[in-house]
Amino acid sequence: MLVACEFSGIVRDAFRAKGHDAWSCDLLPTDRPGPHYQGNVLDIIEDSWDLMIAHPPCTYLSRSGIHWTTRGLRDPALTEDALEFVHKLMVAPIERVCVENPIGCISTRIRRPNQIIQPWQFGHGETKATCLWLKNLPNLEPTNIVAGRKARVSKMAPSPDRWKLRSTTYQGVADGMASQWGAISGNESAKVLTARKMQAWQAVRDWLDGSPEQWQARMPKVTRMVRPGIVIEDDE
Ligand SMILES: C[S@@+](CC[C@H](N)C(=O)[O-])C[C@H]1O[C@@H](n2cnc3c(N)ncnc32)[C@H](O)[C@@H]1O
Repeated sequence: MLVACEFSGIVRDAFRAKGHDAWSCDLLPTDRPGPHYQGNVLDIIEDSWDLMIAHPPCTYLSRSGIHWTTRGLRDPALTEDALEFVHKLMVAPIERVCVENPIGCISTRIRRPNQIIQPWQFGHGETKATCLWLKNLPNLEPTNIVAGRKARVSKMAPSPDRWKLRSTTYQGVADGMASQWGAISGNESAKVLTARKMQAWQAVRDWLDGSPEQWQARMPKVTRMVRPGIVIEDDE
């Protein structure tokens, strides 16, 4: 599975902890060591993933970002480009897709989200409304509803890392995605594995069909090197 637009490695590692072959991808390097493609996700989007969770930038899409555009302080083309990128992620040739973003213009320009989640539904006593646009995935069920309702992220003090801290996925949400959506793609992988095992057993049965002499005749010639330069063939 692919976690697009993720530098933190949080969703990737939540899936890896459950045994999935999960990769992250971002223009930036990964903050935590792990399987990561540093570059444009559109370059690898057609590489046969079964599930993609994407966190595209919200700078020109979110309600707060759009404010600058509607006041004429920002080039509207930036929003159009960002929408085009989101649309490419949504229609990627991947069986199951989740695109995540704050409340903003994706809802009016592309389509309404399937659900809006909050960190307090996943064990973090904070608010940060996050929309999920889902393809072939069920809504994410809350895993641990807690009491706190702090708006910690929007009140963060200015710092060079502020945007990173604000945009990093909550661990509880990542764990919920891995346990609920990983189970769906995991079941499918199990089905594929079972089918492959059956094929392998059938090949063994076909091969064992017949008498020991027939097996012997089918045995490939084994060549062994007994000493450097001296080679014998077993059936001679
Ligand atoms: C809002 S942040 C998402 C952070 C994420 N939630 C995490 O925990 O790492 C958006 C990320 O998208 C990345 N990005 C933007 N355009 C990209 C592209 N074409 N391909 C891959 N990553 C891209 C940015 O570098 C940025 O790190």
